[in-house]
Amino acid sequence: MNAVLVGLQWGDEGKGKVIDYLCQKHDVIVRFQGGNNAGHTVVVQGKKFVFHLIPSGILREEKICAIGNGVVVDPKVLIEEITALKSQGIKITPENFKVSPLCHVIFPYHKMIDTLREKKRLHKIGTTKRGIGPCYVDKVTRCGIRMIDFIDSKSFAEKLKDNIINQNYIFRKVYGFKGFSFEEVYAEYNALAKKIKPYVCDLVDYFYKSRDKKFLFEGAQGTFLDIDFGTYPFVTSSSVITSNACLGSGLSFIPVSKYIGVAKAYTTRVGEGPFPTELNGKYLDYFRNKGVEFGATTGRPRRCGWLDLVLLRRAVILNNITELVITKLDVLDGLKKIKVCLGYKRSGKVLTEFPYDLSGIKPVYKEFDGWSGSVCQARKFSDLPKNARSYVEFIESFLGVKAKFISVGEKRESVLKK
Ligand code: GDP
Ligand code: IMO
Ligand code: MG
Repeated sequence: MNAVLVGLQWGDEGKGKVIDYLCQKHDVIVRFQGGNNAGHTVVVQGKKFVFHLIPSGILREEKICAIGNGVVVDPKVLIEEITALKSQGIKITPENFKVSPLCHVIFPYHKMIDTLREKKRLHKIGTTKRGIGPCYVDKVTRCGIRMIDFIDSKSFAEKLKDNIINQNYIFRKVYGFKGFSFEEVYAEYNALAKKIKPYVCDLVDYFYKSRDKKFLFEGAQGTFLDIDFGTYPFVTSSSVITSNACLGSGLSFIPVSKYIGVAKAYTTRVGEGPFPTELNGKYLDYFRNKGVEFGATTGRPRRCGWLDLVLLRRAVILNNITELVITKLDVLDGLKKIKVCLGYKRSGKVLTEFPYDLSGIKPVYKEFDGWSGSVCQARKFSDLPKNARSYVEFIESFLGVKAKFISVGEKRESVLKK
């Protein structure tokens, strides 16, 4: 059965780990949006792998992994990732790893403008400074450089020169920065293009011929970072919800019947923007230390808060979620009381509709009793302490969706099937 998997919060829900587990039942794993702003961690036999562009399915030799047209690709990061994975003994060849010729490519001027624009912004977003937004801007304004242009040295030279002339003008006039040398960027990036060329493959044709295989789409970021439905403007620059999987891959000809939503048992966020259940003080320290809540891409400390079921209910609807995966339940081990947000108040009044502006919102909480002992060793739902089961069952009933899997540790095997 073909499936799309997305994050239901603000990213870092544990998607990489869940993909690594679920891809056992799929043949082809496809990224469809975002870029190396993503950091997906998988821990196998004590070894930690962090993926920024390549689907984590690559750890399983027999799987085919692909980067769809909706992804923006930093060629430097892609080559570094391929090299690092190969040196860790992971097989990556043009047979098991493919990149769409229609992906847009990230260049140094995208990263620079991401950094400079952020400095000048009235309301900072806290981007990853990876050039993601500026690369999507170029795509939409039709001056972007696609993989297909990039791997053809003549067309690449022509397009790069045109872009650098234009970008340097803006750099000098607006930011007082001298800009980039066409010759230097061309020399460095043309060498990268030669290394990437073997992996570039017409995915529409390849997928169509493979349409009997089982596909799994790997979402990056999380629902509330979605460019349309997230907490705009504190969002990323792509559509991260399930409905973008077809558009970001060209795979409209396969039936998808599973929409898997991954949510942490609490909430985290990196970067700026509203966060109704955000915690400070001893609870923040607790989650950050116990959950090791530091960004896999930038290393920034993550903001932490209680589980917000108002947001999750919205995410379930937006993504048409058919099954849940709850991660990091083990991080709640040892808490005497656990709070869950069931509603919002503004100026003392309970809101009856989902608010488009989450700033100034006060959460309405329900309090649960914690459990004694640890859930880490649980491998069946019945192994969990009663209060942990009640917590999960409450989430399921509030959202009207069943949790199929629960993750209770960072290791590959720390998953229980419900
Ligand atoms: P992603 O971006 O959604 O793939 O998530 P990240 O990899 O950025 O962040 C999730 C972090 O939590 C990683 O360090 C994972 O190794 C870790 N992790 C995943 N699932 C669990 C879990 O169930 N328990 C614990 N303690 N850690 C987990
Ligand atoms: P994964 O796939 C968490 C956040 C950034 C910033 C905002 C915009 O690992 O869950 P951008 O660089 O995309 O323009 O930054 O989005 N952000 C993420 N936060 N996990 C991610 O990816 C993220 N990708 C982007 O921190 O707030
Ligand atoms: Mg991450």
